[in-house]
Amino acid sequence: MLSLLLTLGCEPSSPSPAAPPAAATAPAAATAPAAATASANSARASAVHEAGLPEPLRPESFTELTAEEQRYIEGNWKLLSTQRDVRLRPAETLARMAIKPGMSIVDLGAGTGYFAFRFSELVGPEGHVYATDIASGALKYMAAIIAREASGGRDYRNISLVENPLDGTGVAAGSADVVFVCSIHIFSHLDMLYLSEEERTSGDPVALMAAGRAGMIQSIFETLKPGGRFVYMEGRPGSHAGLDLDLDAVSTLLVGFGFTEAARHAHLKKMDMLVMEKPL
Ligand SMILES: C[S@@+](CC[C@H](N)C(=O)[O-])C[C@H]1O[C@@H](n2cnc3c(N)ncnc32)[C@H](O)[C@@H]1O
Repeated sequence: MLSLLLTLGCEPSSPSPAAPPAAATAPAAATAPAAATASANSARASAVHEAGLPEPLRPESFTELTAEEQRYIEGNWKLLSTQRDVRLRPAETLARMAIKPGMSIVDLGAGTGYFAFRFSELVGPEGHVYATDIASGALKYMAAIIAREASGGRDYRNISLVENPLDGTGVAAGSADVVFVCSIHIFSHLDMLYLSEEERTSGDPVALMAAGRAGMIQSIFETLKPGGRFVYMEGRPGSHAGLDLDLDAVSTLLVGFGFTEAARHAHLKKMDMLVMEKPL
């Protein structure tokens, strides 16, 4: 499974024209306070983007890994790279997530930390980031970066590393303002690898994904505080490594678990962002 994910990589697109930083579904006549908030979100996101990422560690810097962890790091270390910025446009993407200092964020399937390290800077010392993954190689990779930076580099001590189960966040209920997912394929054909034969061959795709992901979706819902948001980013259907379910289907599925849709963003050429909210 991991090698398949690694081969397919994360996000498939090339740059698209710049889009405004406001939420795609924001009311046309935004109030002055809403505009000021959007502008503050944008300024913080731009500053974090300009600060860049910590230098990646090369696979040969690691000793005492299992063969699987070694394979994971060899396949994923390059994901911690500003080269991805062309496709993921972090200044705009992070601004749309409206992350504020002091917030608590779960980066579910954080990989080698491309988003987690930026979240750490966005939420600041009063905030917290739970960087989770099912792959222990991912956690060892981020741990090594955090340790290296702690001696004279950047302060990432507000990150906790969590090895989550396949069907849960691994983070306590009611602890997150935002649960974020990018390219962990929980609603795509790749996810079929996690399903039973019976689930794989059953009919309706929404029902199929619901059956396969009920535990994870329920866990995301429970991990969020009331009013918290699930921010979901994935390749558009038809794109390389993209979704099999379109956003309408994913949204419908999530509504069935108690979420309400808050926004959709189409600022990236081949990836979608869906923001779902847990009611207060
Ligand atoms: C393509 S990488 C993306 C990593 C990161 N989100 C990013 O955008 O840089 C996919 C990651 O999802 C992880 N993953 C896959 N299924 C998962 C699950 N159910 N829970 C947590 N992590 C998962 C993999 O181990 C891998 O690290």
